[in-house]
Amino acid sequence: MTQTRTFDPTQVRADFPILATNVWCKPLVYLDNAATAQKPEAVLQAIDRYYREQNSNVHRGVHFLSAQATREYEGARERIAAYFGAERDEMIFTSGATASINLVAQAFVRPRVGPGDEILITGMEHHSNIVPWQLVCEQTGASLRAIGLTDSGELEEFTFAANTKFVALVHTSNALGTVNPVASICARARERGIPTLIDGAQAVPHGRVDVRELGCDFFAFSGHKAFGPTGIGGLVGRSTVLKDMGPWQGGGEMIRLVTLEKSEYAAPPARFEAGTPNIAGAVGLGAAIDYLDALDLDAAAAHERDLLAYATDAVKAIEGVRVIGEAAHKAGVLSFVMEGAHPHDIGTILDQEGVAIRTGHHCAQPVMARYRVPATARASFAFYNTREDADALAAGLHRVRELFN
Ligand code: ALA
Repeated sequence: MTQTRTFDPTQVRADFPILATNVWCKPLVYLDNAATAQKPEAVLQAIDRYYREQNSNVHRGVHFLSAQATREYEGARERIAAYFGAERDEMIFTSGATASINLVAQAFVRPRVGPGDEILITGMEHHSNIVPWQLVCEQTGASLRAIGLTDSGELEEFTFAANTKFVALVHTSNALGTVNPVASICARARERGIPTLIDGAQAVPHGRVDVRELGCDFFAFSGHKAFGPTGIGGLVGRSTVLKDMGPWQGGGEMIRLVTLEKSEYAAPPARFEAGTPNIAGAVGLGAAIDYLDALDLDAAAAHERDLLAYATDAVKAIEGVRVIGEAAHKAGVLSFVMEGAHPHDIGTILDQEGVAIRTGHHCAQPVMARYRVPATARASFAFYNTREDADALAAGLHRVRELFN
């Protein structure tokens, strides 16, 4: 583990060059972190250095650069695995959480379910943790059930059925901000012998995750939401589960022996990494994880909690605003609607003030249906945001209110 830095939001802002830019001649107020987070200088430098000084293919060449690229790639794997409390061979590089979930759906769940079996998800999943299971159900005849949501945005009672064969659930909701009690759900699933997958895409940016403490079999995450590059992420899988899993995609890197008749597959993680990987992405993700590892993440999380409470109060004080998602335990996300103003109009007007938020269904259409809204406006926070950012959001919303009244 790296030495921990004292957390100071103003100081960490300086690590992110883009936060000093202007949009529409106004200082950027970046509140779209749940869509993608900004990248610290250390990540930008690691990617730049890789392409300038180390670029080569991994695991393939005997030459100097190939050996160096392999060291960088495998070194990133080792540090990322350690960060999540896993072993090196339990960390599979993928293009992101979506690919990780599809990998589990096709390589682990599909061969193990059939008609009469149930896959269990929740009503607050991102489409990437719904559609892969619908595909498996179409392919196998299994059925999909979702745990319902309360009015405040929490899970209703999490009930397993006798035929539940797999549980896939989100750690932190991208549309509501709800943080689910995933460790206790995984423990209950484990008592029943049901394997679990946690979609951790929105959890990793808001605090340390230890997969052993969560007790899940699979943990999916995306690099770009965790201050790393786009197009890279991971699947952390329990080694005892991975070893019995067949491959998802075929190609180079994932084999031990190929004849024209049949092939033998490499051991995990290589078995699940067909083709030339996103080497620069892995190096950048390694740098992002090093960056997080060096932060006082508890202090950062406390700062974010304070900020979310402050912003929520400010936004709720505006006439006609209704917050969607008021769970007792939330992280990073403030979704809302305003009477008389469509979320897209809210987003456009805020943009003119330099404030970047996301509007729409947030790839969570079942959540929108549950709360009977077509879309929401969503401000999402990272540890580098400040109360001034929340003030800019509230000031922009007052302007929207004036315009639409
Ligand atoms: N899943 C990302 C979001 O919530 C793109 O915005």
